[in-house]
Amino acid sequence: MERRKLHEQGPECSRIIAGAWRWHTVSPEQVDRLVHTALDQGITTFDHADIYGDHTNEGRFGNVLRKNAGLREKMQLITKCGIKFPSGRRPETRVKHYDTTREHIRWSVENSLAELSTDHLDVLLIHRPDPLMHPGEVAEVFAALRQEGKVLHFGVSNFTPSQFRMLQRWLPFPLVTNQIEFSFSHLEPLFNGDLDTLLEFKASPMAWSPLSGGKPLPIDEREIFQLAARYNATYSQLALAWMMAHPSGVFPIIGTTKPERMEEAARSLSIKLNRQDWFALLKELMGKEVP
Ligand SMILES: NC(=O)c1ccc[n+]([C@@H]2O[C@H](COP(=O)([O-])OP(=O)(O)OC[C@H]3O[C@@H](n4cnc5c(N)ncnc54)[C@H](OP(=O)(O)O)[C@@H]3O)[C@@H](O)[C@H]2O)c1
Repeated sequence: MERRKLHEQGPECSRIIAGAWRWHTVSPEQVDRLVHTALDQGITTFDHADIYGDHTNEGRFGNVLRKNAGLREKMQLITKCGIKFPSGRRPETRVKHYDTTREHIRWSVENSLAELSTDHLDVLLIHRPDPLMHPGEVAEVFAALRQEGKVLHFGVSNFTPSQFRMLQRWLPFPLVTNQIEFSFSHLEPLFNGDLDTLLEFKASPMAWSPLSGGKPLPIDEREIFQLAARYNATYSQLALAWMMAHPSGVFPIIGTTKPERMEEAARSLSIKLNRQDWFALLKELMGKEVP
């Protein structure tokens, strides 16, 4: 498995990242298998959020680390903070909202560290842009968490280019990523400045739902299957190879709950699409040639 730095001053991660968003739907034994299969495949980077599985998935993952001494050193942990929603586990929250105050970011990090059973996070992301976010306040708490060694690197998720640039301007160290939706069914980052901005700041994107959450596309997919066959690849391997060909160095976050699909995804790194086939796929996806 290829490994790359998210940013020249950022952490080295596996090019394919395992996302734990759906892992509350499987048994604790399966979570254990997923973690071990990922590591066996060289997928050493895991993506979490405080809210996944109604605030339980970090703890489920932490149970695997609690049972396996030495496993933490073999992986990079990403988690997110900033979304609050009404839940039996958070009775004080009346309405879904965002909270990027220094108090909440700090509380959330301390909570994630305990749930994940670790003393540090490799990357902390602000999950969604918060209209009430003050970048100076975020910069202050980020710097303190970094100084304390609790969080090594910081990034954002679902930020627009101007939001990314705004927060970066207030920070004395680089944001290492913007985690965005990017897939065959969500091509906007190619055209809305998301990927350009990351190239400008020399930070790599992470792509969430890179396989469109497992949903079929609302187009005739026969051409895509034919192209996949030509590369001796499966449909999902082609989808991952296609996005990884972008010069911004996309890190896809796969969300499968099946170990064999992790193995399938890991093999996508050996598929190198030629430029014309890359554009042939774009044409199928857009339903027209590029202008
Ligand atoms: N930052 C954000 O706002 C945000 C939002 C959403 C997600 N995320 C992150 O992105 C990660 C991935 O999201 P996702 O789960 O939607 O990603 P995905 O990999 O696009 O979709 C995974 C889903 O597709 C299904 N699937 C069907 N065929 C598949 C195949 N051939 N290979 C692999 N999966 C197949 C999987 O089912 P099986 O489980 O049965 O394989 C699973 O339900 C999440 O875990 C989370 O870490 C971030």
